[in-house]
Amino acid sequence: MSTKPRISNRVSQIPKSAIHEMTRLSKEVEDVAFLSWARPTAGTPKHIGEAAIKAIIDGSVGGYSENAGLVRLREAIVEKLKRDNQVEAEISQILVTVGAIEGLSAAVMAIIDPGDEVLLFTPTYSTHIRQVVIASGTPVLVPTIEEKGFALDFDAIKKAITPKTKAIFCCSPNNPTGTVFSKEDLQKLAEIALQHNLMIITDEAYEYFVYDGLEHFSLASIPEMKRHVISCYTFTKTYAMTGWRIGYLHADESLIPQITKAHIPFAICAPVVSQYAALAALEGPQDCISEFKAHYLAARDLMCQRLDQLDSIFSYHKPGGSYLMFPKILLEEGRDSMTFCKDLLERGKVSTTPGIAFGPTGESHLRLSFCVSDEEINKAFDRIENLFL
Ligand SMILES: Cc1ncc(COP(=O)(O)O)c(C=O)c1O
Repeated sequence: MSTKPRISNRVSQIPKSAIHEMTRLSKEVEDVAFLSWARPTAGTPKHIGEAAIKAIIDGSVGGYSENAGLVRLREAIVEKLKRDNQVEAEISQILVTVGAIEGLSAAVMAIIDPGDEVLLFTPTYSTHIRQVVIASGTPVLVPTIEEKGFALDFDAIKKAITPKTKAIFCCSPNNPTGTVFSKEDLQKLAEIALQHNLMIITDEAYEYFVYDGLEHFSLASIPEMKRHVISCYTFTKTYAMTGWRIGYLHADESLIPQITKAHIPFAICAPVVSQYAALAALEGPQDCISEFKAHYLAARDLMCQRLDQLDSIFSYHKPGGSYLMFPKILLEEGRDSMTFCKDLLERGKVSTTPGIAFGPTGESHLRLSFCVSDEEINKAFDRIENLFL
């Protein structure tokens, strides 16, 4: 009799993450220049940590909160959605989650049945693909138009819709490309969703980090989309709260009890100490957001300047948002992005993420994070220049 562990096909079919593989390899390299992680490197603002400490000392965090999250926090989220996203929300439409990731997973679990198709625009954040697979859905990858800065391809989207299509994932500003989908394009996407009775799940993790006069647009601000959009947000990027694991989603009040049924078996509720921290983040000074944004913008410009010096090696689109960019490798050896990244790490001591981690159309690209110091960017690019020029 076999003694092999009995793992589900659903999970075992998921390939090892190229991102985690590169992170593991990078840890073995001394003095590595690290451009791999989409993670804020700044510390969480002090007043947020202090509010969490106060909540601990007051004895407020030892129990569960309401499954949907503390009422005060949901009230503050409602205010934020009205102010910054033009979304007319109520607290019955909010579910506080364990980061955006758990919210996205709960949303997918709540709406996808086995075999349902979900459209994802590639290159795409690989976690979104995995979330669909874990729900036994079928990811349908729809390439974006790289020549137009990874814009949505509406002909391809329309062609990809079948009777099995149930939902669309939409991440803007985008990981990995940094593209900010325009309001007009998002309105077009909403029309398609309404026409075919599809749900749109949005990942708005980078909502505050948009540059060059571009604006972030939330699909939930379109009144007709009320029952067709589940919007996921996070404190991770906005307030540099990665490890606190706190985010939230907004959806029609008829959907929240259903999504909560998927949230409870994974989380019961979001960490209560982090909910108090999140409340302090929303109620306290907001200067950290503009400070982070100014830093990312300067870092983006520096990275673009350095890439301009390497125009025989890389071509790129200047990202309009996030703190990520997705240059194309022009060299023959860049066709296999995993091998290219490993080589760059071994010979150049520069850690990047291979484009293949973001779907087949990500091949021949690198994802670079500019959520690092200028020093780190310069160190990485000095090394890349030494290798290739
Ligand atoms: C697009 C996107 N969504 C979600 C996350 C993770 O968010 P959270 O920490 O809130 O789960 C990331 C992190 O890199 C991301 O890039």
